Amino acid sequence: MLKRGCLLSSTMEKIVAKLLVGNWKMNGVKLALQEADLIAAAAKTALGQSIQLAICPPATLLARLSEATAGTGLLTGAQDCHAKASGAHTGDISAAMVKDAGGHFVIVGHSERRADHGESSEMVRNKAQAALEAGLVPIVCVGETRAEREAGQAEAIVLSQVEGSVPETFPDGGLVIAYEPVWAIGTGLVPSAADVLAMHQAVHESLVSRFGAKGASIQILYGGSVNGQNAGDLLHLAHVDGALVGGASLTADGFLKILHAIQE
Ligand code: 13P
Repeated sequence: MLKRGCLLSSTMEKIVAKLLVGNWKMNGVKLALQEADLIAAAAKTALGQSIQLAICPPATLLARLSEATAGTGLLTGAQDCHAKASGAHTGDISAAMVKDAGGHFVIVGHSERRADHGESSEMVRNKAQAALEAGLVPIVCVGETRAEREAGQAEAIVLSQVEGSVPETFPDGGLVIAYEPVWAIGTGLVPSAADVLAMHQAVHESLVSRFGAKGASIQILYGGSVNGQNAGDLLHLAHVDGALVGGASLTADGFLKILHAIQE
């Protein structure tokens, strides 16, 4: 069992102590805004404790959710953006559109997009670059498959995704990474605390070696089956600066259980 006390992140290096982001994926119609209202009501208190809450709804709800929660302390974001600023790209949305809809974050390179839409790290990097240019904070996702972990390649794969997906320049505090092992997403499986700790440490060190002090300030979220039961242990590990939450963020009850777990 890992001892919690010696695993606390250094608050000297990171801007907000914890960042909790809900990724609603392709779930939610207007009715879901009621859940966001309940989450927004808790967001101000959380901010007082240096915990930032955010929801990334489907694109169809982003503007309404941003308007409904403006001034509450709950931030919003999109789940993807195009790498180009505008043009003939039917069905896509640009980073400027996300910004215009009130978004603060945009998730790029989620494993579901890497798998479903063949997104390479180079494409993800271009999307992150577009997000930065539009004044958004990209949440760059990385993570190994089960086969890659079983082959002992997890760290090499994740570090190469980080290297390939993170643009060369970004403002201080202007870029977030989410480590999401593909095999832990939506499965109820979670890596051991030691494995999460080792991966976050490795990602942190690679960012420091590439970007120096600015790399040290990049928040690294964990994602994959996070819930109210496991969040307390996971989010107190060193360099686990928050969570990217799928299923458990779809209801205020599920999401706020995670918040309460990390407030303890
Ligand atoms: P789950 O929390 O449902 O496992 O999803 C994680 C995820 O993919 C968040 O982006």
